[in-house]
Amino acid sequence: MKALILAGGKGTRLRPITYSMAKQLVPVANKPVVEYGLEALIRAGVKEIGVIVGDTADAVMAALGDGSRWGAEITYIPQPDPLGLAHAVATAKPFLGSSDFVMYLGDNLVKSSLEALIEEFQFHRPSATILLSPVKNPSQFGVAEMDGDCVRRLEEKPAEPRSNLALVGVYIFSSAIHDIIAKLQPSARGEYEITEAIQGLIDQGQVVRSHVVQDWWKDTGTVEAMLEANRLILEDLETKIEGEVDSESRIEGRVSIARGARIVKSVVRGPAIIGSDCLIENSFVGPFTAIDAGTTLRSSEIENSIVLAECHIENAHNRIESSLIGRGAVVRQSDRVPKTLSLVLGDSSQVEIP
Ligand code: DAU
Repeated sequence: MKALILAGGKGTRLRPITYSMAKQLVPVANKPVVEYGLEALIRAGVKEIGVIVGDTADAVMAALGDGSRWGAEITYIPQPDPLGLAHAVATAKPFLGSSDFVMYLGDNLVKSSLEALIEEFQFHRPSATILLSPVKNPSQFGVAEMDGDCVRRLEEKPAEPRSNLALVGVYIFSSAIHDIIAKLQPSARGEYEITEAIQGLIDQGQVVRSHVVQDWWKDTGTVEAMLEANRLILEDLETKIEGEVDSESRIEGRVSIARGARIVKSVVRGPAIIGSDCLIENSFVGPFTAIDAGTTLRSSEIENSIVLAECHIENAHNRIESSLIGRGAVVRQSDRVPKTLSLVLGDSSQVEIP
C-alpha cells in the first residue's frame, strides 16, 4: 500500500493567508494541517508516500523534507497545473505503478485512524473505498446517493444534493482507477474530478465500498473550518509546560507552552497552545487559541483564534476573537490623534471594527 497526499491546488478560499503560504501548511494547533494526514498514514503503516505539489512546492518540501523525520520515504510529484484531483492521480501514476494507494487531501483532517480501513480494503479487495460524513452544506462537497449500503451515485458539488453525505478527502484505490481516469473529460468547472472517476467504477459494476465516519472530519478550506479544526484538535490537547510562567501568571485548564516561551503577568485559559519563544505579557489567552512560535502578545486579550509565527499584538483595545492572523502581522492600538484607523492590509484581508 502506497499513499498519495495532495498538497498542490490554489487555496483561494483561505486568502489572504494563501497568497503567501500553501493552504496545507497553515497550522492547526501549531502544526501544519498536512502533517496530521501524513502522521495518520504512517501510524497505519504506510511509509511510501507521494506528495503532489504545485506553486508552493518549495515550502511544502521544506516543511516535510524527505520524510525521515517520521521514518517514511516521501517522493515529491510536481503537478504542472491544478487540473483536478483525478489529474493529480494521473500525474502520480509513475510513482503509484500498480499499487493500491490511499489518497489523502492535504487540507483534510480526519480524526478516525486509517488502520481498520486499510485492513478492510486488503481483505475485501474492492476497486475503491470512500469515506462519507453527514454535513449541513452538502453542495460544497462531493455528495453520495446511497441505495442501502451501496453507493448508487456520486456528484461533485451538486446544486441540488440528493443526500447530506459528503465525500471525505480520504480514499483508498486499487490500480483499476487509472484506466477510468485515462478516459475522463474535464467537468463543467474545468477539473478532472475524482468523484466522476469513482462514478466510472460504479458504472462499470466494480465494487466501491463506503464508510460513514463516526468521528469528526474537517476540510480546512475556509477560515471558519480552520478555526473549527483548531478547536477540535485542541479538545484533545494535553498539558505540557516547557516554557516559563512567572508567579504573577495563571494557567487554567489544558495548556501547552513550548520551550523558550514566557508568560508574564498573564492568564492563559485552555485549551490553548503557545509556541516556542512567544512572549505573552499582561495579556489574556482564552480557550481554543493557538499562538505560533516567536509571537508577542502584550496588554491584549485573544480567544478562539489562530495566530501564526512572529506576530506582534500590542494594546489591542478589544478582545480579539475568531481570527486567523498571518505570519509577521502587527496589530497595535495607538494613542495618536486624530483617532483614525491606519491599515496596511493585503489583498482580500478582512477587518471587522466594532
Ligand atoms: O474536502 C473534501 C472534498 O474535497 C470532497 O468532498 C470533494 O468531492 C473533492 O472534490 C474535494 O473538493 P475541494 O473543492 O475541497 O478540493 P480542493 O480543490 O480544495 O482540493 C483538495 C486538496 O487537493 C487540496 O489540498 C489541494 C489539492 N489539489 C487540488 C487540485 C484541484 C491538488 O493537489 N491538485 C489539484 O489539481
